[in-house]
Amino acid sequence: MKTIILGKTNISVPAISIGCMRLNSLDEKGAAEFINHAVSRGLNFFDHADIYGDGECERLFSQALKSSGVKREDLFIESKCGIVPGVMYDFSYEHIINSVDGILNRLQTEYLDMLLLHRPDALVEPEEVAKAFDELHSNGKVRYFGVSNMNSGQIDLLKKCVTQDIQANQLQLSVTNSQMIRNGLEVNMTTEGSLDRDGGILNYCRLNDITIQAWSPFQYGFFEGVFLNNDKFPKLNEVINSIAEKYSVSNTAVATAWILRHPANIQMISGTMNKSRLDEICKGTDIALTREEWYKIYLAAGNMLP
Ligand SMILES: NC(=O)c1ccc[n+]([C@@H]2O[C@H](COP(=O)([O-])OP(=O)(O)OC[C@H]3O[C@@H](n4cnc5c(N)ncnc54)[C@H](OP(=O)(O)O)[C@@H]3O)[C@@H](O)[C@H]2O)c1
Repeated sequence: MKTIILGKTNISVPAISIGCMRLNSLDEKGAAEFINHAVSRGLNFFDHADIYGDGECERLFSQALKSSGVKREDLFIESKCGIVPGVMYDFSYEHIINSVDGILNRLQTEYLDMLLLHRPDALVEPEEVAKAFDELHSNGKVRYFGVSNMNSGQIDLLKKCVTQDIQANQLQLSVTNSQMIRNGLEVNMTTEGSLDRDGGILNYCRLNDITIQAWSPFQYGFFEGVFLNNDKFPKLNEVINSIAEKYSVSNTAVATAWILRHPANIQMISGTMNKSRLDEICKGTDIALTREEWYKIYLAAGNMLP
């Protein structure tokens, strides 16, 4: 399994993380089998959030982990907090502390390897976040910290008070959701893609050694569906399929390889709960697309090059 170095740490982690947002589509036995299967492929990095399945995904994970025989200490487990579904975002000291206690309780673990702030809170007070992070770090409940869906200014604002390094930023990225790449290619133009909506987040993360974790790598829109084998994307599928044929892998592997080919050392968060699909994804980590192939896929997704 291809590995990357996480943020500013010296920890080597798999380039594919297992996203647990859809874990509750499995029963306990199925989840245990899936965890075992992932770990046997070198995929020991699991992404959670306090809100996934309203807490059920974390609860099921801990039960399934017990029956899987896999040891907690052999895993890297991250979770996220800060969303109060349908109500608000909350980065207050109290919310972060209470949320982590809930996460640890549901996951039946004494510590999280990493905690991410899930989505920006307009009312964020970086001093409060810093106080919460300091406490969680010093009492051993959280080893590393990161963010999710944040732009460069928001990370800088946190860094004004937070003393721990921000190791990761989880962002939506697929070939059909590649805004962070588009604005770097359509610089100084009047095209839609040239709009810098996130403060040059791709380069910001590279410059500051923040690992980009790509969520929903096979989805288009905001959870509208999978672009692979989808009639809405005929050209994209034609190109991906022809490259898949060349490497004797599936289209899923090629879509994976497209993300991992980027030199930003991106970690892809896979959401499948299907063991054979996960194996296809793993095959994508062995493929280094040529520049020509990478750009051909980018263009086929409807993007332009000046
Ligand atoms: N930070 C954030 O705001 C945020 C937001 C959303 C998600 N996430 C994280 O990102 C993870 C991944 O998100 P996601 O589940 O939306 O990502 P995804 O991997 O793009 O989507 C997985 C879903 O697509 C289905 N699928 C159908 N055809 C597929 C194909 N050819 N290849 C791959 N998948 C196919 C899968 O079904 P099968 O199970 O049948 O394969 C599964 O239901 C989540 O689990 C979560 O941990 C983070």
